[in-house]
Amino acid sequence: MNVLHVCANPKPTEESVSKQLAAAFFGKLIELKPDVELVNVDLYDEKPPFYSYELYRAAWYPVFQEGYEISKVEEMSMNYASKQAEMFNEADVLVLTMPMWNYSVPAIMKAWMDQILCPGLTFDISKEDGIKGLHKIKTVVLLAASGGVYMEDDPRDALSRQVRHAFDFIGIDDIEIVWADGQNPMFFMDGDDRKAMALEAAVEIAEDVAELDLTSIADEVAVD
Ligand SMILES: Cc1cc2nc3c(=O)[nH]c(=O)nc-3n(C[C@H](O)[C@H](O)[C@H](O)COP(=O)(O)O)c2cc1C
Repeated sequence: MNVLHVCANPKPTEESVSKQLAAAFFGKLIELKPDVELVNVDLYDEKPPFYSYELYRAAWYPVFQEGYEISKVEEMSMNYASKQAEMFNEADVLVLTMPMWNYSVPAIMKAWMDQILCPGLTFDISKEDGIKGLHKIKTVVLLAASGGVYMEDDPRDALSRQVRHAFDFIGIDDIEIVWADGQNPMFFMDGDDRKAMALEAAVEIAEDVAELDLTSIADEVAVD
């Protein structure tokens, strides 16, 4: 099983609740599946560039103009996206670790998503066939922490909506969410209990991920 872990949090683990969820998740997953191939991307070490006009042309002109040949500059603007997409397309499971910032994903995570959710790299798009994923990811595991408390479908929560819809667009509709909310001790007395529950949930999700059936339809056909 190949797992890509993308983390958007500049804090050390002892100060970051979402990173502690990741530690609990991977502790259990590796205990159950010691042969897991884990690739870690710390976005603060591998900073994504902001989306550029060159990248826009490299990604989308070939979609809209048959036979469009990208220039050297356009090709170079895809360097980060191509490298990240390669790791993305190798993965069976994607784990995203992040805090809620201003009701959404941290800007550095959004920049990474803008890079990798790119036609020709992680999905193909055409009028005839619609959108076809070029990856084999079965599940996205979202590990998040927030100061406030959010109900399911809370209109203020742009974080889980953004992650859910962005990956659903390229064919990944299974998203497991572990969320330690209420982490602001000024407003919530039970932050530690909420964190403990989330840590337990992270372990449970790791157990489910360890059991994932990774046989793809193509493999099944090949076996028959
Ligand atoms: C820049 C910034 C923006 C934040 N915005 C929100 C927010 O919109 N909603 C919220 O509930 N908490 C917000 N918080 C609080 C964090 O989500 C909370 O501290 C959480 O525990 C951070 O996760 P971490 O412990 O993994 O770093 C914000 C914190 C920072 C630093």
